[in-house]
Amino acid sequence: MTTTQQQSRPKLRDCIRRALESQRADKDRAPSVTVLSSLLAVQDELHYVPNEAIEEVAIYCDSTINDVWSVASFYTNFRFTPPGQATVDVCWGPTCHLMGAQNVLAAVQDELGVDAEETSEDGKITLRYSTCLGACAQAPVIARDHILTGRTDPKAARSFVSNLKQELENGIAH
Ligand code: FES
Repeated sequence: MTTTQQQSRPKLRDCIRRALESQRADKDRAPSVTVLSSLLAVQDELHYVPNEAIEEVAIYCDSTINDVWSVASFYTNFRFTPPGQATVDVCWGPTCHLMGAQNVLAAVQDELGVDAEETSEDGKITLRYSTCLGACAQAPVIARDHILTGRTDPKAARSFVSNLKQELENGIAH
């Protein structure tokens, strides 16, 4: 799918409705359809939950916008703005923290020019914090679009981000 940022509003709503309907087709993954499962289906599809999805989920689940919003805002994993072309996760869970994640995070933020969990000014790379990327034995760990790199350090993390920026600049990122 092309970036959701470029989607027209009707096309975005079609996408949301398809994601909601897909839950019924995949009963193993979502045996019962709930507001939470519907929000997850949308985020899986679009990588964020736009305002339109809050409305569509309310209709789909026969709920209210307030109820859907209260579920969406309760879970920190939901994001409400479109991500950049690539996402960099930095783990700051206990093991990674002990192994120097704070300095890795500072290097990544500096290289991206951001101060927090946000998207670089050019809209290309989104930084996210993770409480555990599931590879503690490789701590400290960072990831690019869920592909993990372990035993990193500030210098390696900086070149990781710099290489990614270059790839995106050259249009060769996958
Ligand atoms: S704490 Fe970082 S991968 Fe588990």
